[in-house]
Amino acid sequence: MLENANALKEQFLVKVNSAASSNELEQLRIEFLGKKGPITSLMSELRNIPNEQKKEAGQIINEVKQFIEKTLTEKNEEIKKAEEEALINSAEDYDVSFPLNEDKGSYHPITLVQREVEDIFAGMGFSIEDYDEIVDDYHCFEALNIPKHHPARDMQDTYYLSSNQLLKTHTSAAQNAILIKYKKELEANRPIRVIFPGRCFRNEKIDACHENTFFQMEGIMVDKDISISNLIYFMKTMLSEVFNRDITVRLRPGFFPFVEPGFELDIQCLICGGDGCPSCKGSGWLELCPCGMIHPNVLSMGGIDPEEYTGFAFGLGLTRLAMMRYGIKDIRVFNSCSLKSLSQFTNRTFIDDEKEGK
Ligand code: FA5
Repeated sequence: MLENANALKEQFLVKVNSAASSNELEQLRIEFLGKKGPITSLMSELRNIPNEQKKEAGQIINEVKQFIEKTLTEKNEEIKKAEEEALINSAEDYDVSFPLNEDKGSYHPITLVQREVEDIFAGMGFSIEDYDEIVDDYHCFEALNIPKHHPARDMQDTYYLSSNQLLKTHTSAAQNAILIKYKKELEANRPIRVIFPGRCFRNEKIDACHENTFFQMEGIMVDKDISISNLIYFMKTMLSEVFNRDITVRLRPGFFPFVEPGFELDIQCLICGGDGCPSCKGSGWLELCPCGMIHPNVLSMGGIDPEEYTGFAFGLGLTRLAMMRYGIKDIRVFNSCSLKSLSQFTNRTFIDDEKEGK
């Protein structure tokens, strides 16, 4: 048995060393490890040998089997790498100095609106942060005062990954991390002022004003004595600068477990002027920017003493803002990838940025 096993190893090594493609390796795997292969037959021969030799013989066969498997995996990686390199080397050369076609593409309308809003808030002393799109339940819900089985979760169904993570339903998912990161500002007697735009995902029915993938921009400000007046001031300033004209807004009570009190800030639909149309679901108003005073539990979970500090938070619907800004009637245009549709709203490209030194 021992001799057979060693001979098998030698035989395999000769063949594997001369294999030059993944296909050949697969053939070897079938030949040596398949149902009709020598390892399977050695295993069945175990039945015929005396009991006291069985353990040792079994170990020897297993060692040979593991050796073959390991060698095949290593050789496979080696061959794949060589195949990739050959592919790269055979690719045609390209000319990096080839002139750009200036007619091609433009920034997405959401990118442009996002930049405008970022500029407005940066001018008011806000920092801009980026945050993950894949998050865990704690950050998306629990750290926002939404425990497991809380009914508020029904409003934000999303896509769950096998890793126990999920695609974030709102930019609020970053609040806890941002509070923790910036609390040193409070210790240095400076306010926390941060905005964090991002892509959000929800498992919901798509219509003219709802997408399953859309953008929001969250903002928070925390300091001593921050009140609703501060919140209203910042919201008004932002909207008047974005639209550069008078727009009608309304503030009404809204429930979000992570703010207390909470508000819905709606703007009168600029597509129909308030008469009602599919873009505003016939109501004449568009929910644009829910907001409120950060709940004490959320501050505590972010390591901030709610007895000493207060703050506001808002979750601006960036995609809806872009609809209103550019008069886009249907939200589905944004994810359509249709250059014809998208470029009619803006023809700014990265080449313009380069020219202006941005
Ligand atoms: C939230 O997502 C809260 N996190 C907002 C918030 C932040 C409240 C901070 C208080 C304090 P809501 O689900 O309403 O709330 O979404 C906020 C905005 O995102 C909406 O007003 C809307 O403009 C936009 N929005 C929500 N769902 C969609 C969707 N499916 N398609 C496009 N825009 C959406």
